Amino acid sequence: MIQLLTVVSRREIAKGATELICRRPDATAIEPGRFMHLRVGPLLRRPISIANVEGDLITFLFKEIGQGTKELARLRAGDQIDALGPLGNGFPVEHVAREAKIVLVGGGIGVPPLYYTMRRLVERGIACEAILGFDTADSVFYEAEFRKLGPTTVTTVDGTAGIAGFVTAALDSSRFDTLFACGPEPMLRSIQQVPVEHKFLSIENRMGCGIGACFACVCPTPDGHYVKTCSDGPVFRAEEVIL
Ligand code: FES
Repeated sequence: MIQLLTVVSRREIAKGATELICRRPDATAIEPGRFMHLRVGPLLRRPISIANVEGDLITFLFKEIGQGTKELARLRAGDQIDALGPLGNGFPVEHVAREAKIVLVGGGIGVPPLYYTMRRLVERGIACEAILGFDTADSVFYEAEFRKLGPTTVTTVDGTAGIAGFVTAALDSSRFDTLFACGPEPMLRSIQQVPVEHKFLSIENRMGCGIGACFACVCPTPDGHYVKTCSDGPVFRAEEVIL
């Protein structure tokens, strides 16, 4: 499950956000919503969601929010990354009905896995829309890429781009029966209250091992148990977890 990825390109796509495209040793299909645990130091890995897969190329989009992601943002073409994965369970794109009315809602660094998810849905002939939330205009990324796939609305907290406010300000829940979301916990908590029949949330919990062994990523469930974000998720039905 550990593979060596080779960096093909790296570019800054927004303030403090990096796109890293790597070549992997094989070209097997990967379910959208899964992640890779990338080595960023002798003993340290960081879970990074998969933003796109095309053949043997895999794309990661991430924000520099700590030493680990700063290290990743410094990589150059030709560098190699030790990657564990793909890990976790992703969005059920192969199981949604073709006539489903789907909206994908991403907040900040929760946006990346939704790009690959939307791409795969569109490839299945399923029309869907995206709502992407950011803090400010200079933190917006991949808007054009999403627009190529379908109707896309951008929101910014300070109103400097798109609709002012949080993603929920742009969400007309009466138009959809299925919702895929990824983003910060307060956003996901709001999404849990949205009256859409089928809601799937990708949770961004802090992780340790990434493979279900350390319990660093547990999340409580309504029936008094816990699930592990890394191995039971990161995607759950909205009613399965307490955030
Ligand atoms: Fe170790 Fe999930 S990160 S159990």
